[in-house]
Amino acid sequence: MERRSFFKGLLASGLVLPLLPKAGRAGGDPVELLADDLQKFPTSDPSFWQRVRSEFQMRDGVVHMNNGSIGASPRVVTDSILQALTKLEADPYHNTWGGLGAGMEDVRQHAADFIGADLNEVSLVRNCTEGMNNIASGLDLEPGDEILTTNHEHGGGMSCWQYLRQYRGIKVNYLKMPNPVQDKAQLLRVIEQHLTPRTRVASFMHVDTITGLQMPMADIAAITRPRDILLVCDGAQTPGMLDIDVRALGVDAFASSSHKWLLAPKGTGLLYIRKQVQDRIHPLSLMKGYTAYSGSGGTRDVAGILGHGTAIDFHNAIGKARIEARCRQLSMRVREHLRQIPRLRLLTPEQEELSSGMVTFAVDGVKNSEVHKKLWEDYGIAAKVAQGTYVYTEVAAQLGENYNCLRFSTHIYNDESQVDRLAEALATILA
Ligand SMILES: Cc1ncc(COP(=O)(O)O)c(C=O)c1O
Repeated sequence: MERRSFFKGLLASGLVLPLLPKAGRAGGDPVELLADDLQKFPTSDPSFWQRVRSEFQMRDGVVHMNNGSIGASPRVVTDSILQALTKLEADPYHNTWGGLGAGMEDVRQHAADFIGADLNEVSLVRNCTEGMNNIASGLDLEPGDEILTTNHEHGGGMSCWQYLRQYRGIKVNYLKMPNPVQDKAQLLRVIEQHLTPRTRVASFMHVDTITGLQMPMADIAAITRPRDILLVCDGAQTPGMLDIDVRALGVDAFASSSHKWLLAPKGTGLLYIRKQVQDRIHPLSLMKGYTAYSGSGGTRDVAGILGHGTAIDFHNAIGKARIEARCRQLSMRVREHLRQIPRLRLLTPEQEELSSGMVTFAVDGVKNSEVHKKLWEDYGIAAKVAQGTYVYTEVAAQLGENYNCLRFSTHIYNDESQVDRLAEALATILA
């Protein structure tokens, strides 16, 4: 477990005040206190995850199972934002670029370590959409060049390619995702069949926002890299859920939203561009360097970015592998309970390597939005109405589909009793 706390570093440098100690415990760095407390229990002991859950601030009665849309920041993150803002506003000029603001570069290093990249490959963006836009708008492509993507991509990872199509004459090819996917071989075969001699970029989500399918990125990279096709990954759903390493994934570029599974402040994200392809992707915002502040990137939200560093600390204190295991464990419980309910049909693949912490069921015979509404209004359970594919109008006729499904994304702030409550609620609603 990584014990060097980024936040502690800031404390030591005098850049921020120690956080207010939580009631009933000693003062000091709360991330270190959490790490120390967690040493007392094996992960299998329910007290381990109860202790982690005590760091969150959800209102009583709210069962948040839509982390795939937005995460819930732990107290340590919101406290760090408040403290940084208080300090910043006391002397904005000296704390925006220097002073407190200088800590943003530590966050960039911290973020690079977290995803297995080098410092000079990572920039801090506001969200996955911005990261994807930076990648697409920084590419040198000729009219007639082709992008391969799927009919399942989220708008945040698809609009950028639509832009190139509309304004630069680039062709966008969509492969229709098998649903459900049978196995990895099927998926790789379909991808390979859709590549043409003009394909310059292949762009896929790491975890499918509709079905929770985990795309086998390293296997896809083994197909694209020998053909000199850039592999771009919309990783909105993975850092903070899966224990990822961008190098092992083999992707050329990766964009993500830290306000989802990383539980970081809203409006924080990461962009990775592999060193060896940086001469092929040069967005305007990175013209003057990958640094948090640069002449081409402009002034940043210092408090939010420092809070992003604290969120990474929080994850490291628990352990990335432990978090992935817990997300999978809860998701598996959702899967096992809900598959017993008539009218719910699993859309997420069965295989562990193709799954994640999100699970999706199609609802037969009832509108998903009605079930979604009842879950929230009668049981306080927030899930996601996953309507179906997000494809744009010009291809909707061939590729758009309405799966009428519900997506459940459970994180370390959920527990077994909440999953059981979800199953009971759905059994009642769908009876
Ligand atoms: C796969 C995927 N990509 C991109 C996004 C957009 O994220 P953001 O609005 O944070 O950029 C989402 C949001 O749910 C997503 O699921």
